Amino acid sequence: MNFKEPSENRMETDKKILPTHIAIIMDGNGRWAQKRFLSRIKGHEKGADTVRMVVRTCREVGIPFLTLYAFSTENWQRPKKEVAALMSLLKKFLSSEHKEMMKHEIRLNAIGRLNQLPSDVQKALEKTMHATENNRGLVINLALNYGARAEIVEMVQKISRKIEKKELDAGHIDEKTVEMHLYTSGVPDPDLLIRTSGEMRISNFLLWQIAYSEIFVTDTLWPDFTKEEFLSIIDSFQKRSRRFGKV
Ligand code: FPP
Repeated sequence: MNFKEPSENRMETDKKILPTHIAIIMDGNGRWAQKRFLSRIKGHEKGADTVRMVVRTCREVGIPFLTLYAFSTENWQRPKKEVAALMSLLKKFLSSEHKEMMKHEIRLNAIGRLNQLPSDVQKALEKTMHATENNRGLVINLALNYGARAEIVEMVQKISRKIEKKELDAGHIDEKTVEMHLYTSGVPDPDLLIRTSGEMRISNFLLWQIAYSEIFVTDTLWPDFTKEEFLSIIDSFQKRSRRFGKV
């Protein structure tokens, strides 16, 4: 990745109201490829370039948290060849971006049912998560084999086990307790949720965490999503007034 230092770009945006956490549903790789009579896999490859651009831009602008929906619990239902290509692309990405993640203080954290991923992918993720765990410039949460309902089920299981072991009193469960037992424990909720390719759906993504997120849906397909459009969404976010249920 080829980064500018954050300070070079900060003047373009008002640092005070920058989103702390941006979450993205990256959609439209398949349609991008179909429009060009290419295989869907080519669309994912082009989509990986957009991931690079978005990570670089977050680092430049000074966004501390980025969550990307890379593979959902439902995505296993795609053709075997496509699933294998996505897994291989992910492994390649982790390896090709390793140096730059270290150089630019990027921490990679995977969220989802990681133990159901192919073992070579699990190993590559563990290696990257371990190598980057002390980086403090930008945290990327890569949602892999992720489903928000599965996350909520696991949260209930974790809390129930603590109650069984008498480590927790059911009457003391509050929103903080729930947050602490989600995959995203310790990560502030997304301020901004972006979905590409025009679908008005949440698709089982971060259901608890997006309670107050500002949502932006663009018709642009993920491989066509540009830095200019990304910056213009951040700019529009800065102009929206967030009321959190108040007047
Ligand atoms: C949605 O497009 C995209 C995905 C299911 C996967 C996202 C993967 C990438 C952006 C590529 C690699 C990622 C990393 C982290 C290196 P779609 O296939 O659902 O598109 P469609 O709705 O047009 O069919």
